[in-house]
Amino acid sequence: MVFVPDMIKYSLMGNGNKTQKTTGATPRHILSVDQFDHLFVADLFADADHLASLTHRVLSPAENFAGFHIDITFYEPSTRTRKSFETAGFLLGLQVSVTENAGAFSSAIKGETLEDSIRVLSGYDPLCIILRHPEKGAVARAAAISPVPIINAGDGAGEHPTQALLDLFTIHREIGRIDDLNVLILGDCRYGRTTHSLVKMLSRQKNIHVRTATPEPLTLPEDLVNTVTERGLTVEESYELTEEQLAWADIVYVTRLQKERLPAEERSDFHKQYDIYRLTTDRVRVMKPTARILHPLPRVGEIDTAVDFTPQAAYFKQAAYGVPLRMALLRWVLKDQAQKYRSSIR
Ligand code: NCD
Repeated sequence: MVFVPDMIKYSLMGNGNKTQKTTGATPRHILSVDQFDHLFVADLFADADHLASLTHRVLSPAENFAGFHIDITFYEPSTRTRKSFETAGFLLGLQVSVTENAGAFSSAIKGETLEDSIRVLSGYDPLCIILRHPEKGAVARAAAISPVPIINAGDGAGEHPTQALLDLFTIHREIGRIDDLNVLILGDCRYGRTTHSLVKMLSRQKNIHVRTATPEPLTLPEDLVNTVTERGLTVEESYELTEEQLAWADIVYVTRLQKERLPAEERSDFHKQYDIYRLTTDRVRVMKPTARILHPLPRVGEIDTAVDFTPQAAYFKQAAYGVPLRMALLRWVLKDQAQKYRSSIR
């Protein structure tokens, strides 16, 4: 089953030209995990596996995008998403123009609207714009007026679709399957956009069971739970982390408290609740030896550093997979764009 918003209906079905409608000029925006069908994910992961197998992920000159450029504009802080996209761009032979603190170092500070900034940036003809913004829905607003593909690198407490692809890719690499899984999510499911995208993504897979252990006010948004439950995903929420849950899980997905998104009056209280789900080596000992711990990072105390040395710890590998995964994604998004420009070169 495929769920695709109208705006991008013909821009993201299957990989390459197989099922894509070629007549429309709609750019291949990446806005929500709801765009991704099984065929797309299978093709993307096959390409990412191939790229991961290359020494230093170096491509032959015929395969790269030399001469083209992309734009990365982030209105929120980032280490992994920005740097892995940047690295992916370099490895694909692209020039990469980066504004890493666009809230302060762009005309946003003078009051320019996001739409106007996107009109200007897209006028410089990048093959795509990778955008992070603190407001839920802002990236979709940018895509609505952009003639070049927009990639959502996180929109406030909304979604983080490329992280969810990376999370699922890590599961594929580390566990060897992306169906038939017990997934335990710890931390902040209310404001953590990675949990929103991941849960939606998992609702497309077969036989996945999700449990959460969060401080009471930080459960998954109710509308999200309703949506994924209708799709057949089982979601069980709790306010404590038990040994039974840890022993049950194939994946333990840990997230930090999104304190920058909490209302000021609530910030101090939630910190006291960290210990509810903090992962220690004692807790990891209860887990299956084949289970894996994921975290989108940064961690800020919710996984003890001693856990890094357990066989279940996969979060730094997960971060590293960001490069081949985002290379594969960029290759897919840019394919038609580059061909269009190449054919105009005399
Ligand atoms: C996450 C994000 O920005 O949503 N980080 C990331 O992209 N890897 C998670 C977070 O900030 O907690």
